[in-house]
Amino acid sequence: MFKKLGESIKKRPAIGWILFAVVMVGVFLLGLLAASITERRAEIATLLNNKQIEIEGIESRNERWGINYPREYQTWLKTQDMDFSSKHMGNVPSDVLEARPSMVVMWAGYAFSREYTAPRGHMHAIEDIHNTLRTGTPGDGVDDMQPGTCWACKSPDVPRLMHEVGIEEFYKAKWSHWGSEVVNPIGCADCHDPQTMQLKITRPALVEAFERQGRDITKATQQEMRSLVCAQCHVEYYFKGDDKYLTFPWDNGSSVEEIEAYYDEIEFTDWTHSLSRAPMLKAQHPDYEIFNMGPHAKRGLSCADCHMPYRSEGGIKYSDHQVVSPLKNITSTCQTCHRDSEENLREYVYEYQDKVLEIRDRIEEVLPKVHIMAKIAWDNGATDQEMAQALKLIRQAQWRWDFSVASHGASFHAPVETQRMLAHSLDRSLQAQLELQKVFHDKGITDFQMPDISSKDKAQEYIGLDMKALKSAKEQWIKTVPPRWLKEAKENGRLLSNL
Ligand code: HEC
Ligand code: HEC
Ligand code: HEC
Ligand code: HEC
Repeated sequence: MFKKLGESIKKRPAIGWILFAVVMVGVFLLGLLAASITERRAEIATLLNNKQIEIEGIESRNERWGINYPREYQTWLKTQDMDFSSKHMGNVPSDVLEARPSMVVMWAGYAFSREYTAPRGHMHAIEDIHNTLRTGTPGDGVDDMQPGTCWACKSPDVPRLMHEVGIEEFYKAKWSHWGSEVVNPIGCADCHDPQTMQLKITRPALVEAFERQGRDITKATQQEMRSLVCAQCHVEYYFKGDDKYLTFPWDNGSSVEEIEAYYDEIEFTDWTHSLSRAPMLKAQHPDYEIFNMGPHAKRGLSCADCHMPYRSEGGIKYSDHQVVSPLKNITSTCQTCHRDSEENLREYVYEYQDKVLEIRDRIEEVLPKVHIMAKIAWDNGATDQEMAQALKLIRQAQWRWDFSVASHGASFHAPVETQRMLAHSLDRSLQAQLELQKVFHDKGITDFQMPDISSKDKAQEYIGLDMKALKSAKEQWIKTVPPRWLKEAKENGRLLSNL
């Protein structure tokens, strides 16, 4: 090869010069890369040298870290902003059940049918878990609806408490037991080691899931860590056994089918559907799992590349800690790699989303109907045996739907995988409908009519929720209990601000 090259250069000297130029550009780029790495190390070293205070142990009070790292802290504070909406997402509060009331029926018998709002910025995590109807009104003779585990993805007080009382003790206590302890929203100590400012995994569930797969998370690269810190929370999980031990079901792998196989093997169900009596699974938010199956993960991108872009201020480069939709700042996110216009880039995202939502909306028509048909079949004396196949299909269909839509970014993160999962969901929903039509035929049921579930109120009334009572009890509770928790936390010095 080199001989041939030599001959070509002799024949046409220009080739030699082109080669030379290419090599020089390569060397220059490598130099830039090395400089940028050294620069970054130097920046971190300067940061550490300029520390104003020493942070000891697991410091959950974000304000303390803010003294040392004002840029990161100031941008982190902006996760409380509610000023951005894209076509389908954003950081503003939005009532999902109001927009898609059929979900009330799909979750009948489960707390999500009471209330489900779209996620907001990290700083709202504590306020939102207090205020949702899904945590009930524990205290004064009313039992907790949730265990301590439910706090796991809300606050840096969680690793602090796990360290103090033990992991198991933390999970299995009642949710309200930690009311005056878990008070600071998702922050610095969730992702950082205070001494070195290196990224750090603080949630045992992620470490344990890696261990069971024979992987060692301490060997993760820096680029992997820029996703793994998010994977502490933005994943599928369940509460294992009576002790409600937080567990990621990845032992067989992390596709929708592999996780389903895991749950089937241990015969796990989140709840029994109150209309169809199907043994249901509820997906959490498998953002990490699904993202990994998409084109950007395949090219080595991490969550932070789009959700925490670099910023420059007075020559200092830092990571924007306002974790939010990348469409809020297309210039500093997508456009660092893509040369398309802002408009085109936004349109790519909307196009993927709209196409996925077409299938999603069809499923949300069919599945509620199927649950209701199953109820009619039971009401007309169908037997367990006659219903078995339909119920199995309902479980599978809804699992695939939930896994795809509960990860809010999935339609962009991994468009093809998401369309695949939803196609299987729709297929199983229609198969379930066929099975139920057979049961209808055998039982001589002819007069099936869909109830009116066209609004959230109507759907909630249909499934038998007394929303007035639930809401007024919660309003009363919100006025009295959380203020008491937060007051106690301030007196103990666990909470510094009024945020
Ligand atoms: C300790 C758990 C935890 C960690 C770690 C975490 N998140 Fe979150 N994230 C949440 C919770 C909980 C919410 C919803 C908060 C609410 O609605 O009150 C959320 C919300 C979000 C949102 C929606 C914000 C909006 O404006 O609508 C995005 C985007 C997001 N997270 C991305 C990330 C990324 C990227 C990472 C890693 C860099 C990450 N998260 C790390 C728990 C976490
Ligand atoms: C959800 C996880 C997460 C939280 C919460 C978080 N960080 Fe970070 N932080 C990151 C990531 C990711 C980087 C980029 C690291 C890298 O690329 O090496 C980073 C980088 C940093 C750096 C290094 C310089 C830079 O800006 O790139 C500092 C300093 C820092 N964060 C401070 C803070 C402070 C202070 C808080 C709390 C107010 C905080 N972080 C909260 C994930 C987080
Ligand atoms: C290539 C860029 C890119 C990467 C990398 C990326 N995302 Fe996203 N993400 C997006 C876009 C675009 C959206 C849709 C935003 C919109 O519609 O406004 C989104 C949406 C989200 C949402 C929903 C936000 C909301 O307002 O409800 C979450 C949560 C999220 N991503 C988490 C993650 C996590 C966790 C990772 C890493 C495992 C990740 N993302 C990696 C581009 C990215
Ligand atoms: C850190 C670099 C980086 C960032 C940031 C980034 N991308 Fe990409 N993107 C890539 C790479 C690399 C590919 C693969 C290109 C290829 O193979 O042709 C890609 C592919 C794509 C594709 C084609 C996907 C496919 O199905 O193959 C789209 C669309 C896209 N990006 C949109 C976006 C949008 C929108 C954003 C911002 C939310 C974004 N990207 C942010 C690097 C990036």
